[in-house]
Amino acid sequence: MQAKMNFYLNTARETMEPSMTDDGVIKELVKKCQEAKTLAYCPYSNFPVGAAVLTKQGQIFQGCNVENASYGLTVCAERTVIQKAVSEGYREFSAMAVTCDIKETVGPCGACRQVMIEFGRDWDVYLTKPDGSYTRVKLNDLLFLPFEPSHLDGPHTKKTTN
Ligand code: THU
Repeated sequence: MQAKMNFYLNTARETMEPSMTDDGVIKELVKKCQEAKTLAYCPYSNFPVGAAVLTKQGQIFQGCNVENASYGLTVCAERTVIQKAVSEGYREFSAMAVTCDIKETVGPCGACRQVMIEFGRDWDVYLTKPDGSYTRVKLNDLLFLPFEPSHLDGPHTKKTTN
């Protein structure tokens, strides 16, 4: 079991993509988002959120919400974890697990959906309840008619001469 976990947590980029049918990986991802929630910095809302993202290479990153006395500077858990992964060189994701203390299924805020979809439509989001049970949704289904990087290609982008 330990060897298996090492495989999934391996930092090497050449590791194979873990199978999404492997319950062990999802269990681990869910555990990691719950763990991340305990580190939330949320003195203003008292609303801790934890996220964990699985890269296509099998690496798991964790993130929490980080609030600020200037409230608008708050960063959600989902965006924290995306920024951590991308800044470490990972841009391809298979899944994200997100959790908060609400007992019903809760989805990510709109800003986070947009930030997630920057890195592809076709990955899974595990909306995780405090007891560890989850609902799996496709990121694509969470954001209707998204604005995507490809929209900046082509004739509509104003070209500057300088
Ligand atoms: N929050 C997240 O971390 N993710 C979301 O998708 C929604 C909201 C955080 C932001 C803030 O710290 C707290 O939850 C209350 O809005």
